[in-house]
Amino acid sequence: MREINASIPFDKALWRQDIAASKAHVAMLGAQGIVSGADAETIREGLDQVAAEYEANGVPENWDLEDIHMTTESRLAELIGQAAGRLHTARSRNDQVATDFRLWVRDAMDQADAGLLALQVALVTRAGEHADSIMPGFTHLQTAQPVTLGHHLMAYYEMIARDRSRFADARKRMNRSPLGSAALAGTGFPIDRAMTAQALGFDGPTANSLDAVSDRDFALDYLMAASQCALHLSRLAEEFIIWASQPFGFVALPDALSTGSSIMPQKKNPDAAELVRGHAGRITGCLTALMMTMKGLPLAYSKDMQDDKPPVFEAAGLLALSIAAMTGMVADTKFRTERMRGAAELGFATATDLADWLVREGDIPFREAHHITGAAVKLAETRGVALDQLPLDDLKAIDSRIDARVFQALSVEASVAARKSHGGTAPDQVRLRVAEARTVLGLE
Ligand code: ARG
Repeated sequence: MREINASIPFDKALWRQDIAASKAHVAMLGAQGIVSGADAETIREGLDQVAAEYEANGVPENWDLEDIHMTTESRLAELIGQAAGRLHTARSRNDQVATDFRLWVRDAMDQADAGLLALQVALVTRAGEHADSIMPGFTHLQTAQPVTLGHHLMAYYEMIARDRSRFADARKRMNRSPLGSAALAGTGFPIDRAMTAQALGFDGPTANSLDAVSDRDFALDYLMAASQCALHLSRLAEEFIIWASQPFGFVALPDALSTGSSIMPQKKNPDAAELVRGHAGRITGCLTALMMTMKGLPLAYSKDMQDDKPPVFEAAGLLALSIAAMTGMVADTKFRTERMRGAAELGFATATDLADWLVREGDIPFREAHHITGAAVKLAETRGVALDQLPLDDLKAIDSRIDARVFQALSVEASVAARKSHGGTAPDQVRLRVAEARTVLGLE
């Protein structure tokens, strides 16, 4: 029982929140005359001393004391004696743990936001440097049309912006204080829930005591936002892994985020990116774990809910590492722009531009233009040359409406410059988006 019951091995991570919530609670008990001013002051000083001990020596792990709440109260009693017993008036560990955990998750949301902001800064910085750098754009991982590297990086800026808004949204929804809900039904003492809520930075108290002690939506919201963010980071990581492989050779990854092989001296492995890709699996596993814990629980608190913390703590640690790794990767990777541009010229990436030119200049319906272009690509493929290296006569033989002006449309530069629709890959469009993003981020 001792072993299965104890949460102190992991919930000691809540000690700062536990002390803060207890201090808010006892200040309120004193202000409301529920405990004497003298006892409230003694308890406050005692809590500060316990906190100083935890800070200096860590939290002692005694399984008999079960959790961080009992551990702190027991140490408080050793330090200040009888008055310690008054701290738990008008509360329960159920509203206590719900409050502590909310505070912890709220910090984790703020940390995720700060990390993601730094990642966005790295993305817009590199995107600004590479608004004109041409690379192949892919669909099905097959060369599709030329794009700019800046455009590609800004795609991730958009994903991260949505991640930040998900954390912000979750934070807003969760910022209510459960403290004072007591065990499940509220309390008969004349408490002031608004006062403790305010002291802990909440927007106000929760509205229903049964819900407040049994709600872990805030943790699930966090894990959902974290999971979606981890999925984005894993996609970005995967791009770097592919780009760093020798046949691509698009990037030289930062040495600081790579490792060597113990047996193959020539190897430089993208381990950090691979671990980010792997961590996404673990983070979504944490979400699934907590969803399954909460499934089917009747009101109000059940001990199953003690299992809420490990997956959240694990996910938060993995997410912070993943964000930091990808920020370093984006900031310090060397992009081999000549290699990217060379790859964009392979694979007939400007075939769509030939078709578009026929539509524009020859007033040919797109379907027919697509067909003519197909014939040109086939010929170029047979000859082993790029589209713009086909002699004009051969192009004319395919369709007489083609003339010399077509070659201007077939370069990769012309191709990206032409795609200046809102949100398109044209360097001018990318520069606009980068400028907007820099304003949003407060960089301008
Ligand atoms: N250690 C418990 C948890 O983490 C604290 C709440 C215990 N409440 C109770 N009624 N046994 O959930």
